[in-house]
Amino acid sequence: MRRFIIVGTTAKGSGEFSLDDLPSSSGRLDVLLRCVRAALLTSHGLRANVVVYLMLLGEGAAPRVVRIGGEGLKFVRPDERSLAVLVQKLLLRHVGQAVGQEGAFVEQKPGLAVADGGLECVLAELGGASVYVLEEGAGDVRDLDLASEDVALFVGDHRGFDDATRGAFEALGAVRVSVGPVSLHSDDVVTLVTNELDRRNW
Ligand SMILES: C[S@@+](CC[C@H](N)C(=O)[O-])C[C@H]1O[C@@H](n2cnc3c(N)ncnc32)[C@H](O)[C@@H]1O
Repeated sequence: MRRFIIVGTTAKGSGEFSLDDLPSSSGRLDVLLRCVRAALLTSHGLRANVVVYLMLLGEGAAPRVVRIGGEGLKFVRPDERSLAVLVQKLLLRHVGQAVGQEGAFVEQKPGLAVADGGLECVLAELGGASVYVLEEGAGDVRDLDLASEDVALFVGDHRGFDDATRGAFEALGAVRVSVGPVSLHSDDVVTLVTNELDRRNW
């Protein structure tokens, strides 16, 4: 399983944003949505072995995590506006987990779920996955002996990772890895690392 976790430092968790002014009204959810397309979609369909987590750490009902992918996920449109509509509906319809129930994620449809919480909700789902952090200046992904095809890959948004998140990565023993010498947009990084994994037949 490939899990991409996109850390949205300013993205709103409330769903209260304008589709006509997505970048500023949503706290740059657009950055995260482009990562969804890059991680999940091929030219002919959906990747069955990929799950994307959008961490929404900005103002408004945050922190929340949207989970897209896995068993049962049906057609997902590739354009940013359609993805924004999908995520907005998930956020607006989300009713938190009842006290005493297991698991942070509440599934609304197969492959689409929301959790109230932050990094802890994601970590609870990673099992034995090898954890990587995509970062400029780290060791080259091409020199990496990826130990398993069960991977969790963290990618930053337009602001990168904050100190608290970096501390959590360190505590996890996550391996920092780069996709080349140039600082890129988040979705381009997802595309490049996806290609590296594809080339290893994962
Ligand atoms: C636009 S960059 C963030 C730039 C931000 N100003 C910073 O200093 O962290 C978005 C994210 O893409 C990833 N990224 C960008 N370039 C990369 C590279 N060459 N290798 C690996 N990850 C990269 C990192 O996860 C980064 O947080």
